[in-house]
Amino acid sequence: MSQVTLSTLLRSLLVVGLTCGALSVQAQDVAAAEAAIKAGKCSKCHAVDKEKTGPAYKKVAEKYKGKADAEAKLFTHLTTAPKIKVDGEEEQHVKAKGDEADTKNLVKYILTR
Ligand code: HEC
Repeated sequence: MSQVTLSTLLRSLLVVGLTCGALSVQAQDVAAAEAAIKAGKCSKCHAVDKEKTGPAYKKVAEKYKGKADAEAKLFTHLTTAPKIKVDGEEEQHVKAKGDEADTKNLVKYILTR
């Protein structure tokens, strides 16, 4: 095998390797976000694309599309238990379970539905 073909081959392998790495990181984030949703019992009131007691995550993503403070707003929403209305009754929104990184990951997940 000539030197040129070998280096081309190595370069393609590197590209494939990097692509796979990036994909697996992304897949893990989704899995972590879904685990956080489960842990927080969010699905009692939310779904990805249908309205329940709370808005669909797709609706939320639409509402915040292009807004620079979207991540900060949702992070606050999920860490400070703001007052919300559920069936006409005022109650506090649940806080997300997990640490700051988990919640940021969850916010990213919601904003990319
Ligand atoms: C008891 C029902 C209930 C549960 C459980 C619940 N939510 Fe909500 N959530 C709501 C309601 C109702 C709203 C709408 C509040 C409003 O617009 O004033 C809301 C709003 C939201 C919003 C949009 C906030 C905004 O600024 O537009 C997000 C994001 C969200 N919830 C995520 C979650 C996550 C993540 C969990 C789990 C950790 C969760 N919710 C658990 C009822 C719930």
